[in-house]
Amino acid sequence: MQRNILITGGAGFIGSHVVRLFVRRYPEYRIINLDALTYAGNLENLADIEHASNYTFSKTNILDQEALTSVFKKFSVTDVIHLAAESHVDRSIVSPLDFVYTNVIGTVNLLNTAREQWKGEYNQHRFYHISTDEVYGSLGEKGFFTETTPYDPNSPYSASKAASDHFVRAYGETYHMQTVVSNCSNNYGPNHFPEKLIPLFINNIIEEKPLPVYGDGLYTRDWLYVKDHATAIDTVFHKGVPGETYNIGGFNEWKNIDLVKLLCKLMDQKLGRAEGYSEKLITYVKDRPGHDRRYAIDASKISNELGWKPSVTFEQGLSETIDWYLSNTAWLKNVTSGTYQHYYESMYSNR
Ligand code: NAD
Ligand code: TYD
Repeated sequence: MQRNILITGGAGFIGSHVVRLFVRRYPEYRIINLDALTYAGNLENLADIEHASNYTFSKTNILDQEALTSVFKKFSVTDVIHLAAESHVDRSIVSPLDFVYTNVIGTVNLLNTAREQWKGEYNQHRFYHISTDEVYGSLGEKGFFTETTPYDPNSPYSASKAASDHFVRAYGETYHMQTVVSNCSNNYGPNHFPEKLIPLFINNIIEEKPLPVYGDGLYTRDWLYVKDHATAIDTVFHKGVPGETYNIGGFNEWKNIDLVKLLCKLMDQKLGRAEGYSEKLITYVKDRPGHDRRYAIDASKISNELGWKPSVTFEQGLSETIDWYLSNTAWLKNVTSGTYQHYYESMYSNR
C-alpha cells in the first residue's frame, strides 16, 4: 500500500527535522506537512526540500476539524506522526488555554478525523503521537523516568501533553486504532526558536545580552540532539508495537548552570573572544513558578527492543548547533524581529 504520511507541526523545530529525514530517506512515501504556521512554525526551516516530488505542505490548523477531514481525503492519508503543539512552558504559564486548545482539543480532533477516515481498516494505519518526558513530573537527585513512571505533570504545558497522551492511548484501547506514543527529553539543535534555553542563550551571547538563569541554576535537564530524536521517531514509527510507549533520551544530564558555562566557553572560542568573556553575561533571575527540578530518561526500552541509539556526543551536537546559528544569522534575524521583541520584553522585563 502507498504510504501517505501526515506529519503535523512539520514547520517547527523537531517537525522540520522529521519531515526532512522522511522526505530524503523514503522517496516512495508521500509526506504531507500540516502546520498552522504559528510564531513557532517557519517554512524557511524546509527550504532545502520544499520542491521534493514526494513533499507537500498544507497550512491548516488542527483545531479546524473540517479542514483536517479535507486534507485526509485529498491526500488519502494512511498514517499520522503528530508533533503540532504549543511547546514552551513559560508561555503555558501565561496562557494555559492556548495549550488546552492546541494540545488537547487539537489532538482529539486529529484522532477523531483518523478514526472516521480509517474506519474498518485500523490495522492498516498508524497514529504516532510525539510527547515529552515532562508528563512524568520532577525527579529527585536519583532515578530515571521509565515507561511505567506514573504521570505527574506540574506545568500547564506538561498537563496538556499528559492529557493528549491519555487520549491517544484511550483511542487505541477503545477503538482499536494502532496508536504509539513516545516521550522524549529536551531537544537542542538547528532551527530551535530562541525562546528555549539553548537557542535563547546562543542568541544573547552573540548579541552580548544578559543570560537569564532561573533560580539557583541547579535544575537538571537531559539533552538530546534533534537529529537523533528524528531517527528515534523513524525507528518507533516503523518498528514500535501498537499500544506501546517508548521513552527517548541520550543519558545526557546537565545542570543548567554547567551547560550555560560550557556554552559560553565554546562560543568564546568560536567568536574569538577572550576566555571568560561571555560568562560575565550570566544573570540569576526570578525562578519559573512550578519549576521541575530534574528530568532524566531511561531510554533502555527503545535501545533494547528497537535497536535505536543516539549518534552524536553532546560536545559534537552542541558545537554543530552553535556553528549552525553562527552561519544562519539571517534565519535568527528573521525570527527575532517584530513580535519576538515584544515577547522578550514581557517575559524578562520584571524578572
Ligand atoms: P515547536 O513549538 O518548535 O513547533 C510546533 C509546531 O506546531 C510549529 O510549527 C507550529 O506552527 C505548529 N502548530 C502549533 N499549533 C498548531 C495548530 N493549532 N495547528 C497546526 N499546527 C500548529 O515545537 P517542537 O519543539 O518542535 O516540539 C514538537 C513536538 O515535540 C511537540 O509536540 C512537543 O511537545 C514535543 N517535544 C518537544 C521537545 C523539545 O525539547 N522541544 C521534547 C520532547 C517532546
Ligand atoms: P526550556 O528550554 O524552556 O525547556 P523546559 O522547561 O521544557 O525543560 O528550559 C530548560 C531549562 O532552562 C529549565 O530548567 C528552565 C531553564 N531556563 C532558564 O534558566 N532561563 C531561561 O531563560 C529559559 C528559557 C530556561
